[in-house]
Amino acid sequence: MEVIIKDNYEEVSQLAAEYLINTVKSKNNAVLGLPTGSTPMGMYRIVIETYKDNNISFKDVTTFNLDEYVGLDKNHESSYSYYMDKNFFSHIDIKKENTYIPNGVAKDMEEECNLYENLIRERGPIDILFLGIGPNGHIGFNEPNDFFEPHTHLVKLTEDTILANSRFFDNMESVPKKAITMGMKSILSAKKIVMLATGEAKSDAILKSIKGKVTPQVPGSILQLHNNVTFILDKDAAKYL
Ligand code: F6R
Repeated sequence: MEVIIKDNYEEVSQLAAEYLINTVKSKNNAVLGLPTGSTPMGMYRIVIETYKDNNISFKDVTTFNLDEYVGLDKNHESSYSYYMDKNFFSHIDIKKENTYIPNGVAKDMEEECNLYENLIRERGPIDILFLGIGPNGHIGFNEPNDFFEPHTHLVKLTEDTILANSRFFDNMESVPKKAITMGMKSILSAKKIVMLATGEAKSDAILKSIKGKVTPQVPGSILQLHNNVTFILDKDAAKYL
């Protein structure tokens, strides 16, 4: 495991963007695993700027997002599908049909989870997967649990996560209570994993993920089992290391 500590959010975003761009430069049909949330916003912005200034193309790239809220369709402004279009996909030359995000309004959720899992298997392996982490240690929406869920599955979000996510909604009532997320086996099957974390609120989860025991109570701790993982942290997220 490699741990890189940067001075601030901008430097974390810059380095993360370099990982993404270098992956696409060295493999034009790379498969990327992508997160949403506040943390990767800077990375997407820098990748878009680099794309505009340089000769890189995403036309053969495939992406798999980690998760999606249940109950929000792709046009809902708080859906992760909408987020990805707005913050990344609509600014680059990626083909929409190569961008996969679980369907949060599928009629049969179990079937949707199986479909997504099979797609990752068929189109994968993911060359590089970017992750954020919740203050409770969740990765994707794998919340603290008694066991590690291996495959894409439906999850009930914890109160902590619902509260943390409420900043993107008008009120608490409209925050979805469930999500579809990649499971741990899907996450660990990526060839390379890059975890991004900034801010003091993540410092405890980062300490436990890097130095604690591997336990489903701290989902991020499973990354200790992967042989090619890089944590890119700012000083605040790294403060207990
Ligand atoms: C989102 C995701 C989540 C976030 C995590 C951190 O697709 O998978 O695990 O990465 O909740 O979110 P931010 O970056 O908003 O602090």
